Order: sequence, then C-alpha cells, then structure tokens
Amino acid sequence: MRYFRRFRMEFNFSEHEVPDPELPPGYRFVAWKPEDLDRHAVTKFACFRNELDSQVFPSLATLDGCRRLMLEIASQRTFLPPATWLICRVGEGSNPEPIDCGTIQGLANGRDAGSIQNVGVCPDHRGSGLGRALVLQSLIGFQAAGLRRVFLEATAENAPAVELYRSVGFRLIRTTFRQVPDQSPTASD
Ligand SMILES: CC(C)(COP(=O)(O)OP(=O)(O)OC[C@H]1O[C@@H](n2cnc3c(N)ncnc32)[C@H](O)[C@@H]1OP(=O)(O)O)[C@@H](O)C(=O)NCCC(=O)NCCS
Repeated sequence: MRYFRRFRMEFNFSEHEVPDPELPPGYRFVAWKPEDLDRHAVTKFACFRNELDSQVFPSLATLDGCRRLMLEIASQRTFLPPATWLICRVGEGSNPEPIDCGTIQGLANGRDAGSIQNVGVCPDHRGSGLGRALVLQSLIGFQAAGLRRVFLEATAENAPAVELYRSVGFRLIRTTFRQVPDQSPTASD
C-alpha cells in the first residue's frame, strides 16, 4: 500500500472577496454544456495523465477513467454547472479550431457548501495564470448559486496545487491519508 497525505481546504466567502479572473490574451472560458462532457474528460486526461494525482486516483491516469469520472460528476444531483468551466485557446491562422487547455468542475454538496473537483491545466499552458483563473471563475459560480463555503482536497506533495489554492484564499482545515494499492500503472491510452 502507498499512503498519500491529503489536505482538505476551505474557502469562505465571508473572509475573502473573489476578484474577477484574468485570462492571458488568446484564451477564453467555455461555460458548461452537456454536449461538452467529453471535452472535459479529454482535457482532464491531458492534464492529469502523468501527474502525482493519477497515482492517488488511478482513474485519472486513463482516458476511459476520465470519461467515467466526468459522467459520474455530471450526473450527480448536486452537479453545479455555473462552477464548471473549460478554458480554451482560441484558434488562429491555419489552426482555426480552439484547443482545450484547462478544466474544473463543481458540486453543491450541502445547503451552503460546495466542492471543487479536479482542477487541471494542460502542461504546455501552465504558469500563465490559467489555474488561478479557473479557480476564481468557479468560485464566482459557487457564490452566484448562494453557497457560502467551498471545499477541496489536494495531495500535500502537490506544491503547485496547494500553493495555488492558498494564494486564492483557501485555508487548510484537515489532513487526511489516502491509501492506494501499490501496483504498477496500467494506463495505455
Ligand atoms: C495545479 C495547476 C492546476 C496549476 O495551474 P497553472 O495554470 O500552472 O497555475 P497558475 O499559473 O494559475 O499559478 C497560480 C499560482 O499557483 C502556484 N503555482 C503554480 N505553479 C506552481 C509551481 N510549479 N510551484 C509552486 N507554486 C505554483 C503559485 O502560487 C501561482 O501564483 P504565482 O504565479 O503568482 O506565483 C497545474 O499545475 C496542473 O494542472 N497540475 C496537474 C493537475 C493537478 O495536480 N491538479 C490539482 C489537483 S488538486
């Protein structure tokens, strides 16, 4: 077995203002549409396939796993479209098709609390503020839905994610451990 330390973090709207997200030139947000479910799954796979969290959650290591996960998230009664976004890079020149490069999903867990699922930015697009923009855009959606607090979990060793959440205003409320069977990855897609 492998044990991963996980941070449960909370954002409280009464403690922080949510600034408007800023996207670098050439990027835009795409609001949730049911027909975009597969775009989220494919983007999720591209973001997580070689990352620490695909060891913690093996479904993130395969395209099939990401498709199942997206279907599971989007079919929950608590699924929250206003907190669910893609970021795409607008097509240009001889490549007019937009390229999806970031994804985030939200659930409304209780009467006043929500949770963020699986924030991801594709490797070639990291370090330009897209991760922060996704989290802020999602928080605005949670707030518009009347929720007061938003929770998420991050693997403690995942410094980019933990620092991103801290920098936005999430605070650590609990440390947990996730136990994962020790086996070599089977991902091939
Ligand atoms: C975590 C992740 C979403 C960050 O996306 P990103 O677009 O690169 O992040 P941003 O450019 O918006 O950075 C925002 C802040 O995050 C933190 N951060 C981002 N990359 C970092 C790094 N490599 N090391 C430390 N902190 C980092 C910084 O605080 C940064 O603020 P700054 O630019 O003012 O220093 C991205 O690395 C990713 O998709 N990782 C793989 C999937 C994953 O693990 N997701 C998290 C699941 S909980």
